[in-house]
Amino acid sequence: MNTRNTFFGHPIGLRTLFLTEMWERMSYYGMRGIMVLFMIAGVSGENPGLTFSEAEANAIYGTYIGLVYFMVVPGGWIADNILGYQKTVLIGAIIITLGHFTLAIPLEQTFFVGLLFIIVGTGLLKGNISTIVGKLYDGNDSMRDSGYTIFYMSINIGSVLGFLICGYLGERIGWHWGFGAAGIGMAFGVLQFILYRNLLNGAGDLPSESDPMKIKKSIIYLCVACGFLLLLAALAIIEGVTINPVTFAESYAYFLVIIAGLYFIYLFLLAGLTASEKKNLVLLFFLFIGAAAFWSGFDQSGGSLTIFAKNFTNLSVSGFSIPISWMNLANPIFVVLFAPIFAGIWTNLAIRNLDPSLPMKFAIGLLLMALSFVLMLFAVDAAMTNQTVGIQWLLITYLLHTWGELALSPIGLSAFSRYAPKKYAGQMFGLWFMASAIGGVLAGLLGGEASGEGLESMTPIFSFMIKYYLVIAVLLAALAFDVNPAKEES
Ligand code: PHE
Repeated sequence: MNTRNTFFGHPIGLRTLFLTEMWERMSYYGMRGIMVLFMIAGVSGENPGLTFSEAEANAIYGTYIGLVYFMVVPGGWIADNILGYQKTVLIGAIIITLGHFTLAIPLEQTFFVGLLFIIVGTGLLKGNISTIVGKLYDGNDSMRDSGYTIFYMSINIGSVLGFLICGYLGERIGWHWGFGAAGIGMAFGVLQFILYRNLLNGAGDLPSESDPMKIKKSIIYLCVACGFLLLLAALAIIEGVTINPVTFAESYAYFLVIIAGLYFIYLFLLAGLTASEKKNLVLLFFLFIGAAAFWSGFDQSGGSLTIFAKNFTNLSVSGFSIPISWMNLANPIFVVLFAPIFAGIWTNLAIRNLDPSLPMKFAIGLLLMALSFVLMLFAVDAAMTNQTVGIQWLLITYLLHTWGELALSPIGLSAFSRYAPKKYAGQMFGLWFMASAIGGVLAGLLGGEASGEGLESMTPIFSFMIKYYLVIAVLLAALAFDVNPAKEES
């Protein structure tokens, strides 16, 4: 193979997707790292914020994540039925850039408009760019898995850049500089995608639907849906509806759970699945619950754990005071360090026929999540006696989160595509992101409760979380003894 036309031995198009995703995640995580800090900062002082309470800021943060990942579902539908994946990614990337630049305007009103842009743009980009990765490889190419591993690295390199640059600028110069830097990063991503899109060699260029009549019909559906949403928004503005962020997040969490539940029920009862497809669907249902629970702890990073870093962690290390959001660097750095080790462990275990089954890996992920919050209970205790604690507590907490992520996240997506009923494979991808959406909103709600009253409120909420992670972990582990489709089908 001509190495000049490959990317680490992979089709050169992977480089285009790698860099686009890297900049997108740089902007996404860079902004996410400072959004709660910006929301809770007071109006006076050098770097004024929005003076939201901790509970409100967490609820908005959670609702934001929940909306971002929920929008991946319509984003996938638009690519499938109307625009094709490449165009949808490009439009999404442009909308995200506009969103970050909107946030960079130092006005209170621009905050929610900017978030809305990022939600829509990420919905168009995030799922579809991963779909194009898969389309670079024909058939059942074993290279595909390794392609996705490289792609996962771009996500984490991007987050490192984001937390470093946007975190520093946002906290030390001004929040809106941080948001602007995210916009500039994403603009690089857009430029790069436009310049090197041709290297994708047509992968994901066309929608799955080729019948022009059906495409026309889909466009009409889309216009009606957008019109309906705009009407709702206009009515809300005219009526002067004020939204309580916490109540809104609660209702939104119910909405997501009901939609996901109905979808599973529909598939189980009405989609005409075979007995073995139904069995796999039950497995996916439990994995779905496991993933949602896992992300509800993981996403505390930008919420309650960021507040713990701000108020109760001594961030000065040998004379340098670390920006609060830099604590978030731990996760992506640990991912890059440990991903190869985890891959090695699974391969080694597989050679000995000891590779844990899918639900067992999810159970391990949740167990590590529970452990991380046991550690946080000790950190909270230590902070109660000493005012602040060292950074090692949060670092080890994030290390456990990362190990959990590596046990659960990389295999989750492929499990959802592999064990999905054939006809529904595409939509299952959306379900995987729905689990992240539910996890995000729950993270906001739990994080708000945990940090609402300072340290006192952290202990009961973290203890509650530990219990529910353990219950679901046990459930998944029990399931692992019963059905084991990972081995059955191989
Ligand atoms: N770090 C991962 C990413 O940003 C976390 C994630 C996993 C997000 C699964 C959504 C779905 O892509």
